Amino acid sequence: MSQAQALKTAQTCPYQPGTDERKSAAAAAGSEARTRKLANGGIKVENFQLTRKILRSGGTRQAGFMADLVMKASAQGSTPVLFQEGEVHQKQRTASARFFAPRVVTSRYRDLMNMLSDRLMGRLKAAGRADLSDMSLEMAVAVAAEIIGLTDSSLAGMSRRLNSFFTRGVKRNISPLRAMLGRILNNLNLLGFYWLDVKPAIRSRRRAPKEDVISHLISQGYSNREILTECMTYGAAGMVTTREFIVMAAWHLLEQDELRARFVGTDEAERIAILEEILRLEPVVGALYRRAQCDLTFEHDGETTHIPAGTLIDMDVRAANADPVAAGECPYQLVPERAETKGLMGSMSFGDGNHRCPGAAVALQESAIFLERLLKMPGLRLEKPPTLEWNTLTVGYELRDAIIAVN
Ligand code: HEM
Repeated sequence: MSQAQALKTAQTCPYQPGTDERKSAAAAAGSEARTRKLANGGIKVENFQLTRKILRSGGTRQAGFMADLVMKASAQGSTPVLFQEGEVHQKQRTASARFFAPRVVTSRYRDLMNMLSDRLMGRLKAAGRADLSDMSLEMAVAVAAEIIGLTDSSLAGMSRRLNSFFTRGVKRNISPLRAMLGRILNNLNLLGFYWLDVKPAIRSRRRAPKEDVISHLISQGYSNREILTECMTYGAAGMVTTREFIVMAAWHLLEQDELRARFVGTDEAERIAILEEILRLEPVVGALYRRAQCDLTFEHDGETTHIPAGTLIDMDVRAANADPVAAGECPYQLVPERAETKGLMGSMSFGDGNHRCPGAAVALQESAIFLERLLKMPGLRLEKPPTLEWNTLTVGYELRDAIIAVN
């Protein structure tokens, strides 16, 4: 289907333009930080195919997730994987691929995901109610911690520390004094994360290496400080994202009885297809930033795009995911069987190219396991929908205070 045909299809969609099922659409539209970032020069890309071409081109480097700050801080040593390029990056990805291989995800981590979900459901049953964003944090932190190798400290303590320096949206519009206190607390939590979580993990792996990221980094000669930075990257990339997504998916599923019944009544493959469709509509990472390293030229859909060296490129994941060429009809509707539609190109929610998320299969599988157990609980209801705040770093949502209850 050509872009023009696809656009026509989207415009004739019976649901458009009235209905938009995205819960995060309004918050995304009002994000000013993004406009400011582009104000000093840069281009915004909303087209799915062009986004894919840029991410696969190799002539760019990471410009999101405070890249300038991270690059400055790690000028003397190794940079975290998210900020590397070229051969160094390729070597790290090849080496860590063994932690994310489909066989490893479906076998090695499955037992852990089942056990964690059962434990969390047991606690919910006993207490009668819980904050879903606390439950999803514990789940996401525990799974990522196993992959990274952060398993020598208290899970509850580590979740608390990570939550305090990664939650950003709720800290908007506060007084300068509270902002300063917040920064001090963040630094204390970072110190705590290093001394209580990262250092004990490094110490035990220096004695006895395991099959995890920290053991791999030690074998590559990384210093403790470099390992801490990499753990922070994984913390943000793997824990925070999955935690938010689980709450968003639950929110949609708890509000749609038919979809919920379908989700719990089917197999894991279909559950994952439903989750992928929710993630397409509601990407946790709403923009991918790159800076052109040389002059770049792209041909797409009969057009030529020139991007001069040094240009900041803001690729709008939300727009790319709704691009009719990739999404087909009714791009703002939650259509579980969308992936079965012929000609679909997928979504940008896990990125693309050399930095595409290695944890995609982990995130989808753990969300499917957790949500299946949660949603089949008799009498489960959403007592209070989450509050939605905007995180300017991920250009995505933060969902808090989602109160669920069981009879
Ligand atoms: C729903 C959950 C998740 C979402 C939406 C997500 C999204 C993303 C996206 C969009 C990127 C690419 C960033 C860019 O190109 O600038 C990325 C990279 C990454 N993700 Fe995920 N992620 C998720 C879960 C995970 C998990 C569970 C892990 C590991 C435990 C993980 C580890 C990583 C790492 C290490 C990178 C950097 C890869 C590289 O730069 O080569 N992610 N993620």
